[in-house]
Amino acid sequence: MIIAANLKTNLTREKTTKYIKEVENFLSKNSISQEVFVFPAISSLNLHAGKIVVGAQNAYPAINGAFTGEIGYEQLEEFGIKTILIGHSERRHIIGETQEELVEKFNFYKNLGFKIIYCVGEPLNVREAGFEKMMEYISKQYEGIDCNYENLVIAYEPVWAIGTGLTPTVDDIVAIHKELKKKSSAPLLYGGSVKVTNAKEVLALDGVDGVLVGSAALYAEHFCTMCEYAQALGK
Ligand code: 13P
Repeated sequence: MIIAANLKTNLTREKTTKYIKEVENFLSKNSISQEVFVFPAISSLNLHAGKIVVGAQNAYPAINGAFTGEIGYEQLEEFGIKTILIGHSERRHIIGETQEELVEKFNFYKNLGFKIIYCVGEPLNVREAGFEKMMEYISKQYEGIDCNYENLVIAYEPVWAIGTGLTPTVDDIVAIHKELKKKSSAPLLYGGSVKVTNAKEVLALDGVDGVLVGSAALYAEHFCTMCEYAQALGK
């Protein structure tokens, strides 16, 4: 299974280093063989060797160039980063990235062979419009994306469940994942208010190949427990 921590705009470089060390020690000590990803803030990237795969939360689709405030491939390469999150709801809805921009980013990093964790998910008003409308909305987020890309992982993260403590019912997660699996056979993660208290249940669901965790992952101990749950399930 895949257990991923999106640290977002949290933790300093020093704290991130400590965090990664703590998780890494835990994984070794407990012989965790699951795929574990950590996405630190860009300024906290470091060279890392170990079980954890460190990825970037974002990057511009360019090797380098005049893109003030952005980083490109050259800056990721320096830290051996070959994994990237694309399409996270905070980038779509707060930063305002369009589907066209995401497709460009996707293709750029795909051509460089990156592992791409591509995020999809609907806001509350779309969810409230019913299952069909919701799937229509999510389907648009697949437009232009190569669903057969061998290094693709998809994360379903309902916008209204992110950082709110709200989650869809387990039946809803199963139903949505079933639909999404028809679009791509890539591993499919669930994200949105995954906590130590619900991770075991979510990880065990049909069609869930892992979790993408935000706030709860900020506590190394909690994140480690989730890795342990995934290991015990051995899916
Ligand atoms: P929370 O776990 O804080 O809801 O965030 C989920 C998320 O956005 C992971 O990418």
